[in-house]
Amino acid sequence: IAQHIQDPFLSGKSVLISAGPTRESVDPIRFFTNHSSGKMGFALAQEAANHGAEVTLVAGPVNLETPKNVKRIDVLTAEEMYQQMNHFFPDHDIVIKAAAVADYRPILTYDEKLKKQEGNLSIEMERTKDILKELGAKKTKQYLVGFAAETNDVIHYGREKLAKKHLNAIVINDVKAQGAGFGSDTNIVTFLSEKGFEKQLVMASKNKIAKQILELIDQELKDEAK
Ligand code: CTP
Ligand code: CA
Repeated sequence: IAQHIQDPFLSGKSVLISAGPTRESVDPIRFFTNHSSGKMGFALAQEAANHGAEVTLVAGPVNLETPKNVKRIDVLTAEEMYQQMNHFFPDHDIVIKAAAVADYRPILTYDEKLKKQEGNLSIEMERTKDILKELGAKKTKQYLVGFAAETNDVIHYGREKLAKKHLNAIVINDVKAQGAGFGSDTNIVTFLSEKGFEKQLVMASKNKIAKQILELIDQELKDEAK
């Protein structure tokens, strides 16, 4: 019975979330992408909506249903995600970048299928924009949260990203840990805030982790208002 009666601790708040991988095309047939399933970002969107927030979800190509009461915008490339995140950024209170954005894309995208040749193939890549870093540089009222996927020295690299991108908090994912990472239904993360608050969340479903992350953000916002 209690399923739909949930503590609306985010009511009156607007939350912008990006989720999933991006896709960078080489030709009409091939593309570069990564292992992100989008599950963590979608869980955040669903939990935020369940707890009273107005939610906008910018989603890369994923195989997931749109969470209830969530406004979803689909994108493919890092550039499209950049455009949409910038567009929605100004009128949201909490912004969470759970997406796994491509760091590089092919300099050339061929209009026709690239035919095989003798010998090796090199594809020259260029950097995409760092969406989160740009949002961090221009944020005003927003509470900005990044994700970090790491395989080693996870806390160290997480802290570095938190500072470099001017975030309010970062959620660090050890993608090599058992029961965490890509495609998994569970996750183990560490929440780190700019103010030095650090909390490791024990392995749980991505929905439970999502709710805990949102509660920690809410707590930080309440402490800030004091
Ligand atoms: N991110 C972004 N735009 C990019 C790359 C990353 O907005 N072009 C965001 C991700 O959505 C995530 C955070 O930055 O919230 C950290 O992503 P991650 O890949 O862990 O870090 P990078 O800064 O890309 O550094 P590296 O991949 O070299 O570890
Ligand atoms: Ca990266």
